[in-house]
Amino acid sequence: MIGVGIVGCGNISSIYAKNLAASVVGCADLDPSRAEILAGQFGFRSFSGVEELLASPEVGLVLNLTTPLHHFGVSAAALKAGKHVYSEKPLATTVADAGSLLELARTGGRIVGCAPDTVLGAGVQTCRRLLDGGAIGEVATGFASMLCPGHESWHPDPAFYYQAGGGPLWDMGPYYLTALVWLLGPIAAVTASAATPRAERTVASGPLAGEKIAVETPSTLALTLEFDCGALVPFLCSFDVPEHELPHVELHGQTGALRVPDPNGFGGTPRLRSAAQWRDVPLDPGPAENARGIGVKEMIRAIQAGVAPRCSGEVALHVVEAMECALNSARDGYRVRLQSRPERPSAAPGGRW
Ligand SMILES: NC(=O)c1ccc[n+]([C@@H]2O[C@H](COP(=O)([O-])OP(=O)(O)OC[C@H]3O[C@@H](n4cnc5c(N)ncnc54)[C@H](O)[C@@H]3O)[C@@H](O)[C@H]2O)c1
Repeated sequence: MIGVGIVGCGNISSIYAKNLAASVVGCADLDPSRAEILAGQFGFRSFSGVEELLASPEVGLVLNLTTPLHHFGVSAAALKAGKHVYSEKPLATTVADAGSLLELARTGGRIVGCAPDTVLGAGVQTCRRLLDGGAIGEVATGFASMLCPGHESWHPDPAFYYQAGGGPLWDMGPYYLTALVWLLGPIAAVTASAATPRAERTVASGPLAGEKIAVETPSTLALTLEFDCGALVPFLCSFDVPEHELPHVELHGQTGALRVPDPNGFGGTPRLRSAAQWRDVPLDPGPAENARGIGVKEMIRAIQAGVAPRCSGEVALHVVEAMECALNSARDGYRVRLQSRPERPSAAPGGRW
């Protein structure tokens, strides 16, 4: 049994607590009252702070649900305390920090895993089976888009979405980039342009409603992703789009096209196109509802079996590298090659969760 300690008891913590209730030992937050509320809701203990949680021998794995700029510090402290770590995305806000985490884990004999775990859902996994079975032939190109008006419309404390480690690329990009790595394999190079049409945002709901947020990272980016397999996939991501009808991910092979459902969800409806017709493809068995935390379960089983977790630190570092390369490309105006080449993760075991 590997006990889970949750660090960061904000917006996303309750779905993890619900789905992982049986494994959670307790939780901690910079604001102890948040930890007490989450603990009270789900019947585990609240620690007085992160230090006390890290000192607990019952906690074997730290689930890092803090905001992106805190991911590195919390994960590094947990690894130094001898815990395994599963982090919300992004793994860190720089490749150097992500690399340090993997090195700390390697030297300490611990494992690092990272969200998103939506790639284990039936939506992406059905598409993975279709591609591997040759349903559209070899993929030449495609298109991905993550377009929305920005999370200040619903999140009660959205400033972090406009800081380093946020923006549409670092916040939502991991869902799309991780899904594309699962489907097509590693990314070889990135070229990007970026824009920030509005310097300020306004919080729309909750106690902070009306407060202004300074935008410190680009809110619209256009990337061209070159995959090792040869596919060339443009990815448009923006927090400046109130309305659109573009697909989340569409891949084009030699014999047809595949529409991948929203990679920020577990289910959806994959669609295949051939002979000028789209048809819906029923989902394979597997999680199709909000199963956030399933990556932690899979990681615990992998640790017990002595194998690498599917939502691995290596893939997460690769995604961080793709995002950092995109920002560098947009800033400096050139194409950037990636150094990391993680293995394409093996397909998830269908309904056996
Ligand atoms: N909100 C969502 O719908 C959502 C969905 C998917 C993923 N995520 C990701 O989950 C993470 C958290 O998002 P959120 O919306 O829950 O944020 P949030 O601001 O609501 O909560 C973050 C919590 O972490 C705590 N915290 C920050 N630094 C800490 C530290 N050093 N030690 C202990 N506690 C600390 C804060 O006090 C806060 O309670 C982010 O990485 C985000 O990208 C959020």
